[in-house]
Amino acid sequence: MHEETVTLARSDADGYEIALRRRLIGDTVTDELIINGTFAMDSARTMSEIALAEALSPEPGHVLVGGLGLGFTADHLLTIGATHLDIVELSGPLIEWAQDGLTPTLARLAADPRVTIRHGDVATLLAGQPTLPGLFGPWDSICIDIDNGPDFLIHEDNARLYTPEGIRAAIGHLHPGGKMAIWSQGPSKEFWYDLTSIDPHATERLVIVERANRRMDYAIYTVHRPE
Ligand SMILES: C[S@@+](CC[C@H](N)C(=O)[O-])C[C@H]1O[C@@H](n2cnc3c(N)ncnc32)[C@H](O)[C@@H]1O
Repeated sequence: MHEETVTLARSDADGYEIALRRRLIGDTVTDELIINGTFAMDSARTMSEIALAEALSPEPGHVLVGGLGLGFTADHLLTIGATHLDIVELSGPLIEWAQDGLTPTLARLAADPRVTIRHGDVATLLAGQPTLPGLFGPWDSICIDIDNGPDFLIHEDNARLYTPEGIRAAIGHLHPGGKMAIWSQGPSKEFWYDLTSIDPHATERLVIVERANRRMDYAIYTVHRPE
């Protein structure tokens, strides 16, 4: 069977490497996002990205999404009825590739009038520093998938968002009754302890995905702002 891997785009303009690759095996096309040389995600197994969006159902409302990735979480949020998405993405080149339509999902998102994509750092925004003019809450929901999770970070600067102070500050950007969902590459005892200390109604859900004969136990967390 014919196999080929093509680099669609690559950049280190924001001080870290980001690349979009397309794997062709026979008739099967799989897009991959690579960050700092490390596999971040692909379009073949998106169950956990979809589960992250589902964690904000049944009414996600006006959602702050950090970050864009290949756009599967954002795309599903629209499918389940989100009214508007403010997507904040750290990589400027990735936003340009979305606007250039390099993958079908990114193209659809970039063209959707319900979607605003901003270049910036969602951890800085949620820490309360207004670095993105005109972009402020409160939001109905916040959806976070910016790194591998609290225990294994690609960007050290993202650590602050996963601390108890970071989570409390983020919840402060929600409407009363609003919900925040957070993706993690695996369950984290310490993070779960912190979340349940902040919100007794916090949830943890495992999403099991087979990848290259390895079982991955991804985790989706939610916390709420009281009414
Ligand atoms: C794993 S991908 C997100 C995948 C996404 N849920 C999907 O369905 O395609 C992580 C994204 O977060 C971005 N990112 C990393 N740190 C960020 C930050 N502090 N603020 C905003 N975006 C960030 C990365 O550049 C990358 O595009």
